[in-house]
Amino acid sequence: MGNFLAGKVVAVTGAGRGIGRAVAVAAAAEGAKVVVNDYGVAVDGASPTSEVAEAVVKEIEAAGGAAVAVADDISTMAGGQRVVDVALSSYGRLDGVVCVAGILRERMLFNMAEEEWDPVLATHLKGTFTVFRAASAVMRKQRAGTLVGFTSGNHQGSVSQANYSAAKGGIISLVRSAALGLDKYGVTANAVAPVARTRMSAGVPTELTEIGEPEDVAAFVVYLLSDAARDAGVTGQVYTVAGPKIALWAQPREVRAAYAEGGGWTPERIAQALPGSVGTDPMPMLARLAAMEAAARAGERPNA
Ligand SMILES: NC(=O)c1ccc[n+]([C@@H]2O[C@H](COP(=O)([O-])OP(=O)(O)OC[C@H]3O[C@@H](n4cnc5c(N)ncnc54)[C@H](O)[C@@H]3O)[C@@H](O)[C@H]2O)c1
Repeated sequence: MGNFLAGKVVAVTGAGRGIGRAVAVAAAAEGAKVVVNDYGVAVDGASPTSEVAEAVVKEIEAAGGAAVAVADDISTMAGGQRVVDVALSSYGRLDGVVCVAGILRERMLFNMAEEEWDPVLATHLKGTFTVFRAASAVMRKQRAGTLVGFTSGNHQGSVSQANYSAAKGGIISLVRSAALGLDKYGVTANAVAPVARTRMSAGVPTELTEIGEPEDVAAFVVYLLSDAARDAGVTGQVYTVAGPKIALWAQPREVRAAYAEGGGWTPERIAQALPGSVGTDPMPMLARLAAMEAAARAGERPNA
């Protein structure tokens, strides 16, 4: 047992399996008391069971740590609130929340049903909001705390997971908004885009060339939850963790601008001026699309 998070109380959603489980176990091993939330569902979000969260609590306790299970659905306001309430009623404070819970419902955009869009947005994006909302009210009063959201490299765009990609992009904007809105209360917010071997990554249609274990991601999240990250001023950031690699994503910013002269823009003036001035910004994933489609036609899993 280490003491990187000694005295802290941390809540982790989706902590029954995969990356969330590794985060909960690592946080407890570093001295945190942990709320283990998991609705215990299949990859597509179906068939909930409370056993998954309880099993991780037993595992943490067996290793000498302290943990409590919450089997609620964090896509509901009540579920998000309960995760926070249980931290307060069990341990008296809340220093960090890590929103890892997620599901997949893959479909091409032109075939996607409302039943595939809504639950994916509800679990990832709203499920981060419900917990951030309840936790930030506590952290604002404490004048300290850490919020961690889980995004994906797929926030850049996805051929067959527009719902998931849109949710993950939304989580980045939510994290940046939390970082901006809570900075003056001493609360930090960051996002992690992991690549790790779990049941979820096993099912993706692309071959992940840089991949590691959930424990690699967990070590990074423990750092984000620590005083060391707060003292280093880490907030509003998006990091990828893939095995031995830690990478920082750029902040969104304007690339180039052009200004209308004399009378403003018309569609004709824009058509004339845009290609040679403001132009376009190459889309890395679009550039790789042809190679990915060729690999898929050859029956291989395309590299991503
Ligand atoms: N594994 C990867 O390579 C990878 C890549 C990019 C992003 N991610 C993201 O990392 C996170 C963890 O992914 P994972 O690979 O560990 O997945 P996983 O399927 O192994 O675990 C996800 C957990 O979330 C739980 N969950 C689902 N809906 C819930 C709800 N409404 N309330 C509470 N719990 C719920 C599930 O029961 C499950 O235990 C997800 O947000 C995922 O999108 C993972």
